[in-house]
Amino acid sequence: MEERRYLTFALTKGRLASRTLELLEQIGITCREMKDKNSRKLVFVNEELKLKFFLAKGPDVPTYVEYGAADIGVTGKDELLEEGRRVYEVLDLGFGKCRMCVCGPAKARELLLHHEMIRVATKYPVIAKDYFYNEKYQTVDIIKLNGSVELGPIVGLADVIVDIVETGSTLRENGLEVLEEICPLSARMIVNQVSMQMETERIKEIILRLREKLS
Ligand code: PRP
Repeated sequence: MEERRYLTFALTKGRLASRTLELLEQIGITCREMKDKNSRKLVFVNEELKLKFFLAKGPDVPTYVEYGAADIGVTGKDELLEEGRRVYEVLDLGFGKCRMCVCGPAKARELLLHHEMIRVATKYPVIAKDYFYNEKYQTVDIIKLNGSVELGPIVGLADVIVDIVETGSTLRENGLEVLEEICPLSARMIVNQVSMQMETERIKEIILRLREKLS
């Protein structure tokens, strides 16, 4: 019999990977190698199930999956929207829930009402542009930042930010608030389009078993 090829998973480093591994464990998919916290390995293998796993930065997960370096990926909906990669989004895993929002000081609320030209700081320029240009028809100047985006309005770089809000505590502690909600977010499972055709049975079985666990 022809030997099965490995199915490769790209997981998002950090909390999302831990939650994903917990969930996969519930359907019998485990990776002992990954539990060794001292390991410097980048790719982990389960020989018995012919599975491989690697950890990547969230925005890179859709890239690995689009190019087929991973068959399956798990990352946030925010990264999928921002990266716009050609992949199948097959499951909402229900964890990592948060919201993409326009935030700022209360006084900035006014600026969103009259289509004024404003400055928007964000790590998510594609999402911000789509929201302001295509949903609100407001022309804005989008300034790309790489983190601690809340600084934008505080130090006078921008009028508002487009960012992820989870508990809201970063906003509260910095005198900012949610001004508008763009969309809800959560962890999603994605699949490479060719892998879905070539490994239909194995991939569909994983999706079905996960869906059962999540319902
Ligand atoms: C994210 C996000 C907010 C914060 C929201 O930042 O950009 O800053 O978490 O969470 P909260 O509503 O629970 O306070 P992250 O911690 O990923 O770091 P970053 O600012 O460097 O992007």
